[in-house]
Order: sequence, then structure tokens, then C-alpha cells
Amino acid sequence: MAKILVVTSGKGGVGKTTTSAAIGTGLALRGHKTVIVDFDVGLRNLDLIMGCERRVVYDFVNVVNGEANLQQALIKDKKIEGLYVLAASQTRDKEALTKEGVEKVLMELKESFEYIVCDSPAGIETGAHLAMYFADEAIVVTNPEVSSVRDSDRMLGLLASKSRRAERNEDPIKEHLLLTRYNPERVSKGEMLGVEDVKEILAVTLLGVIPESQAVLKASNQGVPVILDDQSDAGQAYSDAVDRLLGKDREHRFLDVQKKGFFERLFGGN
Ligand SMILES: Nc1ncnc2c1ncn2[C@@H]1O[C@H](COP(=O)(O)OP(=O)(O)O)[C@@H](O)[C@H]1O
Ligand SMILES: [Mg+2]
Repeated sequence: MAKILVVTSGKGGVGKTTTSAAIGTGLALRGHKTVIVDFDVGLRNLDLIMGCERRVVYDFVNVVNGEANLQQALIKDKKIEGLYVLAASQTRDKEALTKEGVEKVLMELKESFEYIVCDSPAGIETGAHLAMYFADEAIVVTNPEVSSVRDSDRMLGLLASKSRRAERNEDPIKEHLLLTRYNPERVSKGEMLGVEDVKEILAVTLLGVIPESQAVLKASNQGVPVILDDQSDAGQAYSDAVDRLLGKDREHRFLDVQKKGFFERLFGGN
């Protein structure tokens, strides 16, 4: 049965697109045919992170408007088998997506994909609402800061009340918390909330903790999802998160301040 997975948050800039690219790629790597859909009409970021921006001819809005079919608009990843991107439109107005249009496209995608990963725009406006409305599961991306946690809490409320599952009295959307840009050093100094603090406030199962990492910027500059950088902390943390999403037990890593090695302590400045 195909699953619609929304990657959402209240706040912008928390790591939703980074996460959509990483999780979608991870699912495809594990043999699940996956499409990542960019709902951020007007911004169009996902194709850059996925490194396929030059191959966008038709986009999500074109398909909704019947100007192109899915076959024409789906971009097949060059490296990873079973991975596709449906890009957002760069130029159209924010109201270009309608509930009926989105439903039609998602239902058609469900016929040929196992996972449909919806990269949500920020906020709680139309685009974000449409991205989560048809979801079966949600990854709520949160940074360890009070404002981000507060916005995620609002989003959890919307997932539970304003989705199609809620309106139809079906089983609720399965919610996962993904803490990103986690910096153990700043947590230990009391400058950021710790994992336990956030878990206590939001009371949602923890899918993973992604450390603040240089590897993310490097990957996005290269147009390669960070999960493919398997030497990096963030890549490994995303990999664990995908395994957990698929029901595997994986211990959380990168939660504590890294102890410096012997030589680093001797020669490594502070
Ligand atoms: N784990 C991380 N470590 C460092 N920088 C990150 C991390 N996750 C995201 N970023 C950076 O944060 C910014 C926003 O990320 P993005 O995924 O575009 O967020 P959103 O889609 O929620 O707006 C980008 O510059 C991205 O490179
Ligand atoms: Mg984004």
C-alpha cells in the first residue's frame, strides 16, 4: 500500500527540504520506489538539493493544470534506482495548487510509488495545509529552540484536526519527531533545548536527531542528498532515521559532546 509521508514544521528554515531529500533517497536506496514532491510553490528548492534543477521542464503545477502529464514531469534520479522528483513551480502564485488538483496527482502517484514524500513549505498557509492534508504519516522537523518547538506543537495540532484522516474519522496521521541542527555543545551550555526537553514538550516518537553539520551545506552545494555522504555524521543520522521509519531498531547517535582524542587534547587548541 502506497504511503504519503509529509515533511513539515511550523517554522521555515529548520531543515524540511534537506530532510525530504535525505529520507526520500534513503527509502529508494532500500528498494522502495519513491517520489519526492516539492510543495513549496514559488521557491523551488528541492530540485537544487537533489541536483536535478537543470532537468526541470514541467512541474507540479503544470500537472495540476493539465499542461503536462506525470510521465513528462517526473524527473528520474540519475544515480539511484526507483527515485523520482516532482519539482515545484518557480513562477506561479501560491494559490496555484488546489485541493482537488493535489488529490488527483497524489492518487495517480499512489498507483506507481511505494512512498510519496511531500516537502512542505513553511507556515500554516494553503501550501503547507495541502502538503499535509492527504498524509498517512508526518515527519515534524524541529530545531532545538523554543520558537521552533512551539510552532511544531501547533503543527501537531493541525495534523490531528485538519487532515483528511481527521475529517473522515480515520486512524490519525502517524507522527514522528525529527530533531535537526542539533548541537550537543550548545545544549550542554544551556543555549539550546536538549532531546529530553523537546520530547517532553511534544510527546511524539523520536524518529531521529540530526546533528548540526558542515556536511549538509557541502552536500546541498553539490546537489547530492547528505544521506549519500555516508562518512558524515548527518548522513549517518539520516540513515538511522530511515531505518527507524521502516521499523528497525537503531540506537540514537551524536547526542553527546564528542570527546576529543588524545592528540587533539594535546595540540588541538581549546
Ligand atoms: N543538520 C544541519 N546542519 C547544518 N545545516 C543545516 C542542517 N539542516 C539544514 N541545514 C541548513 O539550514 C538551511 C535550511 O534548510 P532547509 O532544508 O532548506 O529548510 P526548510 O526546507 O525547512 O526551509 C539550509 O541552509 C540548510 O543547509
Ligand atoms: Mg524547504
